[in-house]
Amino acid sequence: MTDTTINFGYSDGDVDTNRSANISLNEIVAERYSRRQTLFGGIGAATMALFGTSMLTACGDDDTANAAPVVTAGSSGATSSGRLVTLTGTATDDGTGGGVVWAQTSGPTVTLTVTNATGSVVTFLAPSVSAATDLKFQFTARDAKGATTTAETTLTVSPAVLGFTAVAKSQADIVSVPAGYTATVVYRTGDPIATGVSAYANDGSDAGFSQRAGDHHDGMYYFGLNAAGSPDPTSNTRAVMCINHENINQAYLHPAGATSPGGVRPYDEVLKEVECHGISVIEFAQGTGGAWGYVQNSTFNRRITPLTPTTFSGPAKGAAFLKTAFSTDGTKGRGTVNNCANGYTPWSTYLTCEENWVGYFRRDASDVTARAGTKDAVSLARYGKGSANGGSFNWTTATAPAGDTSIAKFNITLDPAKPADGTGDFRNEIYQYGWVVEIDPYDKTQAPRKRTALGRMNHEGAWPGKFIDGRKPAWYMGDDATNEYLYKFVSNTPWAAADASATSRLAIGDKYLDAGTLYVAKFNADGSGQWLPLTFGSGPLTAANATYAFADQADVLANARLAADALGATKMDRPEWTAVNPVTGEMYLTLTNNSTRNITTNPTDAANPRAYTDPKTTGGATNGNANGHIIRLKETGDTTEATGFAWDIYLFGSGKDLDPANINLSGLDDTNDLSSPDGLWFGRPQNASGLVKPLLWIETDDGAYTDVTNCMLLCGQPGTVGDGTTKTITNSLSGGTATQATRIGAAPGANLRRFLVGPKECEITGIDSTPDGRTVFVNIQHPGENGNPSNITSNWPQSQAGNATGRPRSATIAITKNDGGVVGL
Ligand code: FEO
Ligand code: CA
Ligand code: CA
Ligand code: CA
Repeated sequence: MTDTTINFGYSDGDVDTNRSANISLNEIVAERYSRRQTLFGGIGAATMALFGTSMLTACGDDDTANAAPVVTAGSSGATSSGRLVTLTGTATDDGTGGGVVWAQTSGPTVTLTVTNATGSVVTFLAPSVSAATDLKFQFTARDAKGATTTAETTLTVSPAVLGFTAVAKSQADIVSVPAGYTATVVYRTGDPIATGVSAYANDGSDAGFSQRAGDHHDGMYYFGLNAAGSPDPTSNTRAVMCINHENINQAYLHPAGATSPGGVRPYDEVLKEVECHGISVIEFAQGTGGAWGYVQNSTFNRRITPLTPTTFSGPAKGAAFLKTAFSTDGTKGRGTVNNCANGYTPWSTYLTCEENWVGYFRRDASDVTARAGTKDAVSLARYGKGSANGGSFNWTTATAPAGDTSIAKFNITLDPAKPADGTGDFRNEIYQYGWVVEIDPYDKTQAPRKRTALGRMNHEGAWPGKFIDGRKPAWYMGDDATNEYLYKFVSNTPWAAADASATSRLAIGDKYLDAGTLYVAKFNADGSGQWLPLTFGSGPLTAANATYAFADQADVLANARLAADALGATKMDRPEWTAVNPVTGEMYLTLTNNSTRNITTNPTDAANPRAYTDPKTTGGATNGNANGHIIRLKETGDTTEATGFAWDIYLFGSGKDLDPANINLSGLDDTNDLSSPDGLWFGRPQNASGLVKPLLWIETDDGAYTDVTNCMLLCGQPGTVGDGTTKTITNSLSGGTATQATRIGAAPGANLRRFLVGPKECEITGIDSTPDGRTVFVNIQHPGENGNPSNITSNWPQSQAGNATGRPRSATIAITKNDGGVVGL
């Protein structure tokens, strides 16, 4: 960039791109100069910035000398996709004043936004290009008698590249973003979401969380709204935001921590904790000056909690194992819990995923005895409830109002006096959780639907592959527990693009999400892989199975882990989020860490190749795959319908100083070293961050590198499966030494940089953007999670504004580039 008149400049954040006074004036101008097509050489109106106001005052003046204006358009410049460009023209004439106009004459069409009164300054976002491309612009001035002069300038736009300086690792109690960026806190735990609800005192006294933001913000998705309040996937200024509330910082929710946390719990405390879980469906909007906020009194606002009525759909609807005292026909339920990552559908619904739901359930010793030797016993053990357990937070010890079983349902201990089919108690309630749940963000009257065809597991997220007309769509899902699997659901119904604009959104969900094939992944050492179908009656998935006698497809889906075991799926290092490159369709999966990976009893394989000791300067060392990795796969034939794939490992987490030959295999340095990747997301394909070579955003939820830095968000521009090499590493642990061959992608180098570091004791999770990519939303989960009211260990988000007091709160933040460009570019 050598020219001062073409430069990166200020954007008002896409609000008020036409000042209201100018709109009417421009209309007058357009009418008066209807022959401008002739005047300006046939430039299309769509690419022409309209005349400014000065032209009107000039009209009618008598200019006898009538010298033509003298104009400059600046010398040529260069930039890259997604960056904000400012064109500044200058014009002088004989003093009568004339109109000026910028117009594009060649190159990919951009939208010019007038940013000053005369129209001599315009801005635009450099378009997405796959190779260096010239855009030409004309600046024209005319005087009162119609004499015009035009000057031209050329801007060369190159493909998108990372456009920020890496943020340093930090243990400060604040969110850090790169120079030139701003982070704004938008929506915090406890914020009121209905008219008349009091501001959050944040001292443990607040109640009524069915009308407040929940805790532990996690996965989220931006659903656009237009000015009239109708769904609009292109809106950049207003949206219904769906935000998961995965869990709670229990101690901070009560005045002095929980009362008898390990004993009998007060009902009001339990109700508060229950309602802090679930989902927020909340209107977000840009206000004056472009700042984002949530709309407290929006009619879209809704909390979905573990108490909200839900329905079941798909193969397990009405199954015997879903029958409870509340739902004697097994078709409905109450609530969703531990909602972790998410997915979406192109028909504008939200997918929320139930992750660590098992922990909430109480199972008494009498139940362990009563169900010994049954299929239930096998299933409960495989999902982590094989022995007696009081359940998270001891919720079921509370005394609820008479007849209210909405919390007692978390006790699955069978009552021998009740019917054996489970319709008299809640012995089956645990089967009602572990599903992917579809929500219509635009219609609060619709009950969430649990989509049983996608299987039951510790669902981290459910991210779709590319939607192609006529092809069956797929959703990729990690089961987040140590040594669990990666799954893919492929719909039976080929995609029809017209369904994207249907108004009966959950009915479209019925069409695509209730019938299909659930597959589990097997990774081979040679870089190939198979999707193994979890289909009742095929292979070992029959009643003759010795471990678990599968009864039907519903039974297979509810016990997907047992089915995947039988099929010989590959045990992974804790599958977390999936993300799909919107250009290539390649799928990325975070494998956050695995402390059980070792040399002997749980040996490595090609897809989970590391077992080592990660030293810590404070606290104990971590063994196994301590820092995690990100694997990626390319479907055979690049289709979501494929039953085979090729894979490699995009990235290995590591501290920068660990052994480069065996641990820091991606060559990470001070600008990008990380541990425990978890959240994962590609830029949206509606803007330059998700086109050509999309940005990949990586969020961490780490305990292994926290002696050096708080958790973080990184941004990279990955290549493709197979862009690296094969490599044999040596793993060394106390149990011995072993070699392991694996497949590793090209080292990221400067194409991966740390973009954000969070406050103390937080996790960075949940991410989405406006369609134009000029705002990225991120969640800061559980800051200060190891503290309590008498030992507050983080004051975020108050600390973001310099106020280091008060209890910490999870929150959604909005990140913008100060000049208005696409975030990250
Ligand atoms: Fe809720 Fe696996 O993170
Ligand atoms: Ca997670
Ligand atoms: Ca995690
Ligand atoms: Ca978490």
